[in-house]
Amino acid sequence: MPEAESVEPILVDRTAGIGWIRLNRPRQINALSLALRSDFCTALAELQADRDVHVIVISGNGERGFCAGADIKEFAEVHSLTEARQARAVVSWSAAMERVTKPIIAAIHGYCLGGGLEIALGCDIRMASPDAVFGLPEITLGQIPGGGGTQRLARIIGLGRAMDMVLTAERMSALEAKSCGLVTRVSESRDALEYDVRTLASALASRGSAALAFAKEATKASTDVDLPSGLRLEGDLFTLLMSTPERMAAAKAFQNKSNRAPLPLTAAVAGG
Ligand code: COA
Repeated sequence: MPEAESVEPILVDRTAGIGWIRLNRPRQINALSLALRSDFCTALAELQADRDVHVIVISGNGERGFCAGADIKEFAEVHSLTEARQARAVVSWSAAMERVTKPIIAAIHGYCLGGGLEIALGCDIRMASPDAVFGLPEITLGQIPGGGGTQRLARIIGLGRAMDMVLTAERMSALEAKSCGLVTRVSESRDALEYDVRTLASALASRGSAALAFAKEATKASTDVDLPSGLRLEGDLFTLLMSTPERMAAAKAFQNKSNRAPLPLTAAVAGG
């Protein structure tokens, strides 16, 4: 039975500076239908515009996983290249993610395939549970990744491994993903993942939002521009931050010894 369209494909929660987007088609392992992609783009834009949101988290609802990629059942419904282009233009999550200046954390459990992996690649920090499985199966469907997979993956894990994943469609375990930097943190369990993500997101949300945005911008630029240009950008952003109230407040808090708490480290992170 097709999923009832009354079910919201995206759920958004805003609490304590964290905007949490949950992909919500659990019966289809959160496959990316047109409706989901459209709502996802809207949610991202709204959280980006919300001054009370400092960090965004993306996770998938249901037991099976984060996201099993594009909704393959919708493939047959696109009849012409023009229609495909229009659909892409309207709901390009890849471009929508690029417009977000706030840090985005991916909380990944179970299947993280195709467009699901591409959403994760558009995030700034990827955290996973031990059962997470990563892959780009598009080639087996006569397709190539179309949500940034061929571009972002190589920038994150290097050309050799990325080419291997794109051409072979072979899957990668959470531990392999950690070893090549596809994810940077693997929690002890699914329950621990939710806790660890919330803890990290809360810690980030307590930081200055301008500093977070500039840190993200400068670090992202490092893979796209030459070193002199990157250093210039870093210098400009650094200078801009010097006069912000956030920076003054942080310096005062340091002097008063009231902000000395380090970012929390989970056992999984601490263990490397
Ligand atoms: N698009 C649409 N529906 C999908 C889907 C997708 N990408 N991935 C899973 N589903 C649906 C299945 O059709 C099934 O629904 P149904 O019970 O109504 O038929 C449900 O999700 C569960 O999937 P199922 O295939 O029965 O589970 P499984 O454990 O046997 O296999 C996967 C899980 C993820 C390995 C398998 O579903 C799969 O390969 N999905 C496609 C992944 C993919 O190629 N993504 C990239 C698309 S470009």
